Amino acid sequence: MSDRLNDSRRPVLHLDSPAYGGDWSPEQWDQATWSRDIELMIEAGVTMITLGVFSWARLEPKEGGYELDWLADVIDRLHAAGIAVDLATGTASPPAWMAVDHPETLPVDFHGVRLGFGSRQQYCPSSPVYRERSRALAAQLAERFGRHPGVVMWHINNEYACHTHECFCDVCAGEFSAYLAARYTEVDALNAAWGTDFWAQRYTGFEQIRPPAAAPTLLSPAQVLDWRRFSNRQLLQCMTGEKAQIRERSALPITTNFMGAFPWLDYREWAQHLDVITDDSYPDPADPAAAADVAWAGDLMRGLAAGKPWLLMEQAPGAVQWRERNAAKRPGQLTQWSLARLAHGADGVLQFQWRQSVRGAESFHSGMVPHSEAASRVWQETKALGRELARLGPVIGQPTTADVAIVIDWESEWARGAAIGPVNDAEPFESARQWHRTLWESGVAVDVIGPDDAVDTYRAVIVPALAIDRPRLAARLETAVGEGTRVVVAGPTGIVDDQLAAITGGYLGSLRDLLGVRVIDFAPAVGIEPMSARDASASRITRATIAPASHEWIGIEPAGPLALDVASDVRGGRWAEEVVVTAASESVPGAAVVGTFDGRGAGVDLRGMPAITRRRHGEGSAWYVATDLDAASRAVVAHSVMREADVRPVLEALPDGIEAHRRGDFLFLLNHSDEAVSVPGMAGTELLTDAECGQTLPLAPRGSAVVRLATA
Ligand code: GLA
Ligand code: ZN
Repeated sequence: MSDRLNDSRRPVLHLDSPAYGGDWSPEQWDQATWSRDIELMIEAGVTMITLGVFSWARLEPKEGGYELDWLADVIDRLHAAGIAVDLATGTASPPAWMAVDHPETLPVDFHGVRLGFGSRQQYCPSSPVYRERSRALAAQLAERFGRHPGVVMWHINNEYACHTHECFCDVCAGEFSAYLAARYTEVDALNAAWGTDFWAQRYTGFEQIRPPAAAPTLLSPAQVLDWRRFSNRQLLQCMTGEKAQIRERSALPITTNFMGAFPWLDYREWAQHLDVITDDSYPDPADPAAAADVAWAGDLMRGLAAGKPWLLMEQAPGAVQWRERNAAKRPGQLTQWSLARLAHGADGVLQFQWRQSVRGAESFHSGMVPHSEAASRVWQETKALGRELARLGPVIGQPTTADVAIVIDWESEWARGAAIGPVNDAEPFESARQWHRTLWESGVAVDVIGPDDAVDTYRAVIVPALAIDRPRLAARLETAVGEGTRVVVAGPTGIVDDQLAAITGGYLGSLRDLLGVRVIDFAPAVGIEPMSARDASASRITRATIAPASHEWIGIEPAGPLALDVASDVRGGRWAEEVVVTAASESVPGAAVVGTFDGRGAGVDLRGMPAITRRRHGEGSAWYVATDLDAASRAVVAHSVMREADVRPVLEALPDGIEAHRRGDFLFLLNHSDEAVSVPGMAGTELLTDAECGQTLPLAPRGSAVVRLATA
């Protein structure tokens, strides 16, 4: 049976209002607490509970000896209370017997150390025993509860790869060489693809090839890239293996919870196997940019869902415990960040976890029912959120439309991570997140899409630092630009092919024609602490030596007739490239230089070279940005491009701190500031209060509103 059920056959999650609830661990509590908890769930307006995520040791205390009655009791009780169950397969943390009786199921790390029991996720994804026992448990659960009216969704495993994203054991090594044999057929094809004549790495048989584990120095980048692909596949097989067991026995929708733009798993591939997309998201309340993370993760999940529903599966009701220092959520923030998820397309908001643990590694991680229970603000806000979500049924399933797309590509991230240089310190999806943030700050709605998705429906498309040259994407972008789309490509893009061979003849590869430029070389800034005056006084030679790359930024001067909108101080950050504009011909107009490196900061040796270019093509234009613009400069470029593309913010002239997002006929307004703010009035009804909107809509500090817009 194909994993890609067509939409008419796809199992559906039925919701009357946004799902609300969290992970509950009844195994940590006595039965009196179960009863009390269910009363509290009703009081808080909980509609969905995730059960069983870490229950394996209680569900199968002895190998093959299942004890599911207690779980049946819990599900029955929840069902009687009208609370739906998202039932986990419990396979994220195998019991002690597996570690003791089958020690080969324990994962081996990069240094060859076999990891021990006593934490969680201690399994090798290739282990036949782990796979068999986890599939058997999934089958048992599906057999028993697959038609239970209280169960509405399956939750396979938990946060795959969160701790163990690869394993270097002998089983994995054998599977890796088999994977490579299937991928390349002939070992010389692998030798060619990996470039094994470098450093005498040539193989004469697939059985010689080991995982890229600890070695004297730099590993083969192409080997590491294939290892990423392989490790992703091994875990995906664990998931689809459980899924197949469930599908044989239950027609309910299936999910596994994602972790935002998690770099190790290609969620675009995973999403195709799931009926509901779910995300775990823990922005840091101490970070003023946390709301940007909420928006980014929301837009990312909506893109992965591609029309299917997505739910927030986990957030912290208050503080987490796993950072060095763990900030509490501010008053109102729980509701606000929850509504922000709905604004960006979620149909539910669940938390980790229902009742705060008193023992174990998470006893200082907040719960919806905190240690201090009713006395706590978290509990009061938990109840308030339940009441508010109950009013938002009309929002379920409403679509978001965006005029702008940002393209992301997991394999490009793997390639960037596996490549040695040109810089080795980029954060995952860094450029994509930065461009997303710029657009979010300016109030523009954005879709986050993959390299195979359609681009011609957008007025503007951002291609932010995609390492792998994607000729098919380039062709689709070219067509879209011809028809009027504006494309912005930011470097470094198209620097390798999908086997990590460097692109020769000018980076950008298949995008060179569309952009009308070639990237000749890299010139990143490095940023070195300037010498103190004291040291300089004793450094006759060093103090006279100029090292441009030691700077942290790169100056850019707007140039040419198309000069950027604002005559502001435009700067790159720590990335820069030497770019040449390809000669124009009569039929093909060349690229115009919109900004040049002006020699300030790290750009001394780049003075006069193009930093930002724009080429007209058909009805649209293609921009190239050869540096990682700082936030202010990115806003300048984005403003120019959006004006040219006629992209408008969701609402014009919004006051500071206000995020506006449209979902169908509903307008979400979120006041992220500490000030009371009045948003200019709009015709409609506010759903949380039922108030008709007047001249202005007042929003309390960190207050939120959801307006059903009166249709004209
Ligand atoms: C992850 C896990 C949960 C819990 C939370 C704590 O998201 O899925 O089991 O450990 O982190 O923040
Ligand atoms: Zn292994």
